[in-house]
Amino acid sequence: MLKLLTIIGARPQIIKSAAISRAIKSYYSTKVKEVIVHTGQHYDSQMSAIFFEELQIPLPKYNLQVGSGKHGEQTAKMIMGIEEILEKEKPDFLLVYGDTNSTLAGAIAAAKIHVPIVHVEAGLRSYNKKMPEEVNRILTDHVSTFLFSPTITGMKNLQKEGFNLQSVAPFTVDNPGIFNVGDVMYDNSLFFAQIAAEKIDILHQLNVEKDKYVLVTIHRNNNTDDEIRLNEIFEAILHISKESKIVMPLHPRTLKQIQHLLDKSILDALNHPNILMIPPVSYLEMIQLEENSHIIITDSGGVQKEAYFFSKPCIILRSETEWTEIIESGSGILCDAIKEMIIKTYHLFVNKEKVLFTNIYGAGDAAVNIINILLDSTH
Ligand code: UD1
Ligand code: UDP
Repeated sequence: MLKLLTIIGARPQIIKSAAISRAIKSYYSTKVKEVIVHTGQHYDSQMSAIFFEELQIPLPKYNLQVGSGKHGEQTAKMIMGIEEILEKEKPDFLLVYGDTNSTLAGAIAAAKIHVPIVHVEAGLRSYNKKMPEEVNRILTDHVSTFLFSPTITGMKNLQKEGFNLQSVAPFTVDNPGIFNVGDVMYDNSLFFAQIAAEKIDILHQLNVEKDKYVLVTIHRNNNTDDEIRLNEIFEAILHISKESKIVMPLHPRTLKQIQHLLDKSILDALNHPNILMIPPVSYLEMIQLEENSHIIITDSGGVQKEAYFFSKPCIILRSETEWTEIIESGSGILCDAIKEMIIKTYHLFVNKEKVLFTNIYGAGDAAVNIINILLDSTH
């Protein structure tokens, strides 16, 4: 039995983990045992608990309940908790997703006591080291034994950093295995889209119609914590709301910051029937909202990709992205936090033909590919 210790903590990781947990339950229950550790980085029920039941993710055996805090404090508490659990559970591998502080904490704890690390979503780079996520993903990749990239771009990025893409087993931290396996988020979108279409009536609840609203998410720290950027973004949204309904499930971070940083006139103007500012929604609700939207505006990595999966044009509130294929396809445009650019791109997209989707994120079997490679490596 292969024993995997999986670290989750932030919303996107909980969602991503559903793909691997589902694959284990469906095909590998006699070969793989998964122990899940929740760091507690996200803790509101709409940011965490809601996903477990909806996506049938096994409940974590451990919850470190670390909560919010400065980077150092939050990451340090996680490292302490994860180290203890690793010593007790003695897994064959530690599995981490993406690029959050929970990812880095897992990687540091495991690397120091020689538990091999599996990094899912390896190789992604924004080439902006001021992003906390860029630091987290670079450091995690460089102590991992298995690097599972979702894209060809990820593979090329790793090659540029000196990783040998042709390495062969036995894999170790000094001879890591590098694989392009596809994207577990694409696995999930394929698996859950039909279920969401059958079960969820969020459009009806919000009183919005298919193709007649713009879906917006904002949470990246350089947008939420910067007064000028936050005001530019919300001015643009106000402008667009004169032409279209806006559905905006707000991350708690953003909800807090708009009260402090938005000009009062902008904050007051947001109280308008065309602007539906709502709490974070469940994953099934979110993919229903994405699939039926006209245009998506976001600074989220995951939502950018889901826009692409559902062939929606995407206004990206960043100056660079790890998901460069979306920009190359023409379906996403980097607008940073520049009001005029956001509005101009909105008008460009209003009449745009449906985006052509090609399978750059794999075939919906990333989770199975990952487990097969891990099982093969331990024979
Ligand atoms: C984190 C990740 C980011 C990821 C995002 C997904 C890091 C450095 N950042 O950012 O990469 O895109 O998760 O959503 O790991 N808060 C609550 N309730 C919660 C969680 C957070 O109110 O359940 C509020 C707190 O005020 C907290 C703030 O949100 O201080 C930020 O939370 P944190 O987890 O530190 O960072 P995110 O912005 O969520
Ligand atoms: N998501 C969700 N409810 C919401 C907003 C986002 O379920 O209200 C999902 C979204 O569909 C995607 C993931 O959360 O699967 C993206 O997470 P987030 O935007 O928090 O982080 P990022 O991907 O930028 O790290």
